[in-house]
Amino acid sequence: SAAEKGGYDYFMLKEIAEQPRAVADTLLGRIDPSGSLTLDEVRISPSELREIDKVVIVACGTAFHAGLIAKYAIEHWTRIPCEVELASEFRYRDPILDGRSLVIAISQSGETMDTLMALRHAREQGSKVLAICNTNGSTIPRESDAVLYTHAGPEVAVASTKAFLTQLVACYLVALYLGQVRGTKWGDEIQAVIKDLSRISEEVERVLETMEPVRALARTLAAKNTVLFLGRHVGYPVALEGALKLKELAYMHAEGFAAGELKHGPIALIEEDVPVVVVVPSPRGRSVIHDKIVSNIQEIRARGARTIVIAEEGDEAVVPYADHLIRIPATPTLLQPLVATVPLQVFACELATARGNEVDQPRNLAKSVTVE
Ligand code: AGP
Repeated sequence: SAAEKGGYDYFMLKEIAEQPRAVADTLLGRIDPSGSLTLDEVRISPSELREIDKVVIVACGTAFHAGLIAKYAIEHWTRIPCEVELASEFRYRDPILDGRSLVIAISQSGETMDTLMALRHAREQGSKVLAICNTNGSTIPRESDAVLYTHAGPEVAVASTKAFLTQLVACYLVALYLGQVRGTKWGDEIQAVIKDLSRISEEVERVLETMEPVRALARTLAAKNTVLFLGRHVGYPVALEGALKLKELAYMHAEGFAAGELKHGPIALIEEDVPVVVVVPSPRGRSVIHDKIVSNIQEIRARGARTIVIAEEGDEAVVPYADHLIRIPATPTLLQPLVATVPLQVFACELATARGNEVDQPRNLAKSVTVE
């Protein structure tokens, strides 16, 4: 009913709008006044966490994309090797696991069969499993050694939005916590990022306030057949997520690529007027990859692409090559997905509407996939 949707036309729109609150709720009570993390729910002792020699993340779909981003954060802040694998592939390839591996299973519903089977396999090998989950008391957290709930509130729309943002926050918390417990040379950066994370929900709110041009742009693309997405570093999984949202909702051919792979094949797809969404990393920090992506934008535009550029406020280098420019607030590099994903959700939702599709219940899809 309309009341359940809180006045929005679709649950998806409501859930997109709830993201600032959801992100704040994931952080609630987990950052203490001194600015360090207390994750009491992670019932794996600090001494066990110091023994971990490998992190393996298993998940499906959007949750898998959260895992891909988590890898950048975990390896950077903790220096522990981290693998991310589609849960459906994991147990069938005889993965190397033991008591010193920490397996993180990410799932909104907590009922995804592939993810459940992957975590059962990990526990049989003696690994500890930490679930990142949104649904209290569901199967995946019940079968795990510990659980960090995302507290996003119920997600009804089949396309995941607020669950994704809060999975990211939970992954950052785990990465920062592991860094804190183990002590790394990034101690100061960890402190600073915890502070930025505690303010990030306001940045998500600011992004939501500027989405009207994104909706207008989406409506002009309703008759297109293909949209491509490019990203680099943590922007690469964001590109994958943007493409997945568009497939699910708009039933369009959409693909995400690592920008550095363009010349290894995908650039052959660029033709006159094909829309390409580019997620641009911050010019601060890792400015080398920023400059490389700016030349990618130049290259594809020279071949006729219609460039839709998502870039940080104040990034002037992209301006000459952007047919459409979507601004996002400056954040620490690793946190950028929390703001960069939001326009892609809005874009996909609006395109679906413009194409007359059922937004909350896309064809052929179920909210949680409880079969293998
Ligand atoms: C996301 O928009 C999808 N509907 C889907 O990929 C989903 O993220 C995936 O099925 C995993 O679900 P889970 O988080 O409930 O395990």
